[in-house]
Amino acid sequence: MNDLAFGHRRKADTLYHQLAEEMAQAIAAGLLKPGEKLPSVRKMSSQRQLSLSTVMEAYRELEDRGLIEARPQSGFYVRPAQAMQIPLLTQPPQTPSRVITQAEFWPYHVGGASARVDFSFAVLAPEHYPTQPLQRLLSQVSRHAPEILADYGRPQGDPELRRHIARRSLAWGGQFEADDVIITQGCLEALNLCLRAVTRPGDVVAIESPAYFGLLQILESFNLKALEIPTHPQTGISVEALELATRNGQVQACLLLPNFSNPIGCLMPDEAKRRLVELLDSRNIPLIEDDLYGEFFHHGERPRPAKAFDRTGNVMLCSSFTKTLAPGFRVGWVVAGRWQRELEKLKFINTFSTPAILQQTIARFLENGGYDHHLRKLRRAVCEQVEHGAAAVRRYFPANTRFTVPEGGFVLWIELPEGIDTLQLLQRCLQEGIAFSPGELFSPSRSYRNCLRICCVQTWTTRHEKAVQRIGELAAEMLLQAPVAGATAPAVIDPTPIK
Ligand SMILES: Cc1ncc(COP(=O)(O)O)c(C=O)c1O
Repeated sequence: MNDLAFGHRRKADTLYHQLAEEMAQAIAAGLLKPGEKLPSVRKMSSQRQLSLSTVMEAYRELEDRGLIEARPQSGFYVRPAQAMQIPLLTQPPQTPSRVITQAEFWPYHVGGASARVDFSFAVLAPEHYPTQPLQRLLSQVSRHAPEILADYGRPQGDPELRRHIARRSLAWGGQFEADDVIITQGCLEALNLCLRAVTRPGDVVAIESPAYFGLLQILESFNLKALEIPTHPQTGISVEALELATRNGQVQACLLLPNFSNPIGCLMPDEAKRRLVELLDSRNIPLIEDDLYGEFFHHGERPRPAKAFDRTGNVMLCSSFTKTLAPGFRVGWVVAGRWQRELEKLKFINTFSTPAILQQTIARFLENGGYDHHLRKLRRAVCEQVEHGAAAVRRYFPANTRFTVPEGGFVLWIELPEGIDTLQLLQRCLQEGIAFSPGELFSPSRSYRNCLRICCVQTWTTRHEKAVQRIGELAAEMLLQAPVAGATAPAVIDPTPIK
């Protein structure tokens, strides 16, 4: 898409604009930190051999864009981002909803594909993945064992890969063996098989609120009802609310992401995970745990999945290598506890097996020890991207915005002041080539109209910075058009075009 189609004309490539651009990039990359003083106009002019007026113009442009501020008698400083409050515990309806996938939202699932700056896809950019080593291993595997191309492979999956998965789980206290693992086509197949094993059409499944729309689509396809459980953006679902909701026997299964949920980013503390597992076990309600984002902790140690507290096989643990290693391979797994035999049968019926060549390639990658190194690099990059995204939201979104910086994963869940409809906001953003996911997508009761999800999946650049700025500006304009009590627009609204 060219810049005109993108909705803006480029600014003339003047010297002052080039300098402003360069400095904006330095701010976006964290080379110039909030509160840091910029070189004086005179100093910059002699350093860069530019006229005083050119430097002054560049500083004015940065000031207009809200990136720097002038302090009387002192000079120019990188503007500190505003503090924002975190969203409160969500309060979804207390009755189960039939899940009806909103057909009109479908273009927004895929709308990002044509967007110039796409914050809607939860798939990391290709540069984050070790594609060349995987390519080499793939051809080694097909050279050394060509017979696997002429065979269906085992329904349960490659034994070496299952052994690696079981071995890696020791780090978080996993107590299962290779035989307890079934390899699937992505985490999605694992979740599908689990739900199929433990529910019947019409059953009620307790989920987080908001919840990943892919899960809602699965519930819909099995004709299941969703009971949204209040969820805190930092500590996850309220176990107390779940306790109340499961008293009358209406809930037949629970499907949760205790580690870095998508889209809300929460991380349940260990103690809450333990209570959750004990509660569901005592009520004989299976817990399907989606641990897709468990490896994406930003600091410290890998959080334990709820499965680590499971003593009876009531937790079915699902995950994959899709986000961590090879999105294109679609290799996932499930440790199904009490439902192991049932799931082996269902895997056989569903897709029979997962391509053996892909499983063996991953097994070799894990064998060679490069995986942990890769994960460390990936986590660092993701954490940086999220920090940039969060700083940009603080800088450019209306002051009454609420959001929290997650401790892991790569999604930001943002709550705009009441009265803003993020579906309308998205339509305006798409006209300028910017995509994100509107909040309604994540709730069967169509709550969260004023919320949005931003995925920080690409290396952060000024393009992303400006796109977040533009979303914030358009949100502020919408607020001005429909003022809401207590809602205020940001101090700076600058229609700087996005490149
Ligand atoms: C929470 C969650 N679960 C499952 C999936 C699907 O995982 P996979 O791609 O391994 O099938 C996704 C994909 O984005 C996700 O966000």
